[in-house]
Amino acid sequence: MAYVDANRARFVDDLIEWVRIPSVSSDPAHAPDLVKNAEHLAATLRNLGAGRVEVWSTAGHPAVFAEWLGAPGKPTLLVYGHHDVQPVDPLAEWITPPFEPSLRDGRMWGRGVVDDKGQVYIHAKAIESFVKTVGRLPINLRMIVEGEEEVGSANLETLLRERAEDLAADFVCVSDTAMFGRGIPSLCVGLRGLAYLEVFVDGPALDLHSGSFGGGVANPVNALARILATLHDADGRILVEGFYEHALPLKDRERREIQSLPFDEKEWLRSTGAPAVFGEKGYSTLERIWARPTLDVCGISGGFQGAGAKTIIPARASAKVSCRLVPDQEPDDIVGKLTAHFAGVAPPGVRVRVERLHGGRPYLAPTDHPVYEVAKRAFSRAFGKPTVFMREGGSIPFVRTIADATGKPCLLMGFGQPDENAHAPNEWLDLENYHLGIKSAAYLYDELGRM
Ligand code: BES
Ligand code: MN
Ligand code: MN
Repeated sequence: MAYVDANRARFVDDLIEWVRIPSVSSDPAHAPDLVKNAEHLAATLRNLGAGRVEVWSTAGHPAVFAEWLGAPGKPTLLVYGHHDVQPVDPLAEWITPPFEPSLRDGRMWGRGVVDDKGQVYIHAKAIESFVKTVGRLPINLRMIVEGEEEVGSANLETLLRERAEDLAADFVCVSDTAMFGRGIPSLCVGLRGLAYLEVFVDGPALDLHSGSFGGGVANPVNALARILATLHDADGRILVEGFYEHALPLKDRERREIQSLPFDEKEWLRSTGAPAVFGEKGYSTLERIWARPTLDVCGISGGFQGAGAKTIIPARASAKVSCRLVPDQEPDDIVGKLTAHFAGVAPPGVRVRVERLHGGRPYLAPTDHPVYEVAKRAFSRAFGKPTVFMREGGSIPFVRTIADATGKPCLLMGFGQPDENAHAPNEWLDLENYHLGIKSAAYLYDELGRM
C-alpha cells in the first residue's frame, strides 16, 4: 500500500487526462471520441503488463478488453466498467467545464469522473500497484470496459456471447455504484432493471388554428394528459394491469436489513430540494427506491413551446416513460403490459403508438456465497469500518446478463457518493474515495488470492 500512498497525486493526474476525452455515447457526433477514449484506456492497460489488451469493435461503440493470467491455480476475477459518459446539458450550470476536470474541496469535478471513469481507473491503479511492486497480480484478472452503458448496452449481449471464453471467470466485480454514505464501505446487493418506452399520440396532419378547428377534432396534448393520468392512483400505486404480478415481495429479513441502515430521511429530502417525500403507500423511502418498481414520465413534448401565446390544436404529442423493475419483472413483459394499457385508454379521435427504447433486467446478489464475506473484509480493510449491504435503484444491464450467462456471483463494489451529481451538472469524485478505492480493489485481489 506504500506504492498507492506514494503515487496518490499522479493517480489523480492520470485520471484527469482520461476525463478530458468527451466520450458521450448518446451523441453520434462524439463517436470518434469513444474510439479515442477506448484507445487511451487500452494504452494505459498495455503499460501494466497485461498479457492481452484489445479494443473490441461492436455495431456501436467499442469495448476494451484486457487480461492478466499470471496466477495459475488462483481464482479469476472479471472486472466490468464503462468508458462512455452521459451528455453534459445543461452546460450553463457547470461551475467548471465538464471536460476540463478541476480539483476543488477534495473532489475532482467533470463529466464521467465517478460514472464511471474514476471507478475504472481505481482498478487500473490497483493493478498497477501490484505489477510495479510485486511484479504480478495475486489472482487472474480479466477486464471488460464497454462504451454503451449509458445508452442501454444494446450490443453487450452479442459481445458476451461471442467472447464468452475470453470473459470466463469465477467472480465478477463491478465498480459503478455509490456508497451508502461518507466513509461507509457498501456492497450493493441489488439493482433495479429498466423498461423504457416512448408513447406517441397523433392527431391532425398539421397544427390547426384552434379557433377554426377547436371543438371539431381531438387535441393530442389533451389526449396524452388523459392517458398519463391513468397510470397511477393518488397514492402512487401503478394502475397498469398486471404491473406488480412478478414483483417479488420484500422478505422480512430484507426489510430489517434496510431498516438497520443509518438513513437520514430529512437530510436526504433536503439534498433533493423537493418539498416532501412521495411514493407508493406502505413502504419506506429506501424500500420504494431499492426494492419496489416505479413508472415515471421522464419527458413530455407537444404543442407550442415558445414565448407568449399561440392558438393551435397541436398535430402530435409524446411522452418518454421509464419503469424501474425489481426481480422477477421482465422488461419485455412490462412493455407489453404498458402497450396494452395505452391501447385500452386511448381516447377517441387520436392514434396512439408505442416505441420501445432501452431496457435492462434487475439483479439480486446471492449473498449467501462466501465471496461476499471476502469482499466485505477487503472493503473494510481499506476504509477501517464495517461494510454494509445496500441496494441501488439504478440499473446496470451487464450485471444480470453476465450473472445469468455464467452463474457466477457479482460483487458490486462501488466508490461513488450518494450526492455525486452523476448524470447532472457538476459531477464529482471524492478524492479520498478514489484513493481508498484503489486500496479496496487491491485488498480484494489479495483476499481473493487467499480463497
Ligand atoms: N452507474 C449507473 C448505475 C447506477 C445508478 C448506480 C444509480 C448507482 C445509482 C449507470 O451508469 C447508469 O446510469 N445506468 C443507467 C442504465 C440505463 C441507461 C440502461 C440508469 O440506471 O439509468
Ligand atoms: Mn455507471
Ligand atoms: Mn450512468
